Amino acid sequence: MKKSVLVCRAVFPDIVDRLREHFKVETNEADVVWSRDELIAHLQGKAGMFMTGTQPIDGALLDACPELRAACSMAVGYNNVDLPACTARGVLVSNAPDVLTETTADFGFALMMATARRIAESEHYLRRGEWTKWSVDAFAGSDVHGATLGILGMGRIGQAIARRGAKGFGMKVIYHNRSRLAAAVEAELGARYAGKDELLRESDHLVIVVPYSAESHHLVGAAELALMKPSATLTNIARGGIVDDAALAQALRDRRIAAAGLDVFEGEPSVHPGLLQVPNVVLTPHIASASIPTRRAMANLAVDNLIAALGQGPNAGKPPTALNPQVLARS
Ligand code: DGY
Repeated sequence: MKKSVLVCRAVFPDIVDRLREHFKVETNEADVVWSRDELIAHLQGKAGMFMTGTQPIDGALLDACPELRAACSMAVGYNNVDLPACTARGVLVSNAPDVLTETTADFGFALMMATARRIAESEHYLRRGEWTKWSVDAFAGSDVHGATLGILGMGRIGQAIARRGAKGFGMKVIYHNRSRLAAAVEAELGARYAGKDELLRESDHLVIVVPYSAESHHLVGAAELALMKPSATLTNIARGGIVDDAALAQALRDRRIAAAGLDVFEGEPSVHPGLLQVPNVVLTPHIASASIPTRRAMANLAVDNLIAALGQGPNAGKPPTALNPQVLARS
């Protein structure tokens, strides 16, 4: 008999068709954001789940869904999952690295440029019908080419942004990361390691790409913003909670820094009201990886993992991007 799986959010139909070749599939065509209790109810009798980066998975939820063996996410970030709790209960977890790197880096760069060059702010002005004459200093922002690009978090996406900055825009690239890259990688990227305070002080454009964890919670707050140049911009495409949004709203209101570009927010989809009130911030709804080919690749990778994790297909037992493959080794 086919195992049952749950697809937690609406997804491309052919992705569901791939799952139906191997499993009995329950979908969420209406794309409802289920509460925790609703998710638990839908997971009853399911051996696997196809998920995104937004369903919180913890020990109590797993205890209420004892048949669950695999939770496969189409997101690269997995701060919504208590990985040790999954491992302890023999639940395989996978994420979707690599397939979104270049698309997310494109977006990070675009958001940084839109922020530096005041694109959203000036577009709103034009749409409001306020543009009556060309002016010398109207919406004059800061240059990106030749400026200092500071990257906080130098994983795959940070490195892809560094390449764009150094090679495409002649930027001086500095970065801070928990671990320093090998000298050869730094040379290939044209990036120099800096301490966190030095990074904050020297960056003309700071781009944040660190994963969210207890250690990175409010990594950038009032004290860090105070170190930045008044002319600097800050772009966050990582996760809400890494930046203290209340402190950032205050810094933008006070022109402590020039502008920010934010794709992620503390408590999203809610946005701190202070951010909605200031003009010098570009706000987008967590879409950094949202190109159609990339969202398809992310979803397909989650399906590859789910099929393999539940012992089906040519890679049975070997999900390609498992986060806790030891779970399968011991089953
Ligand atoms: C990711 O893949 O982590 C993106 O932020 C979408 O959730």
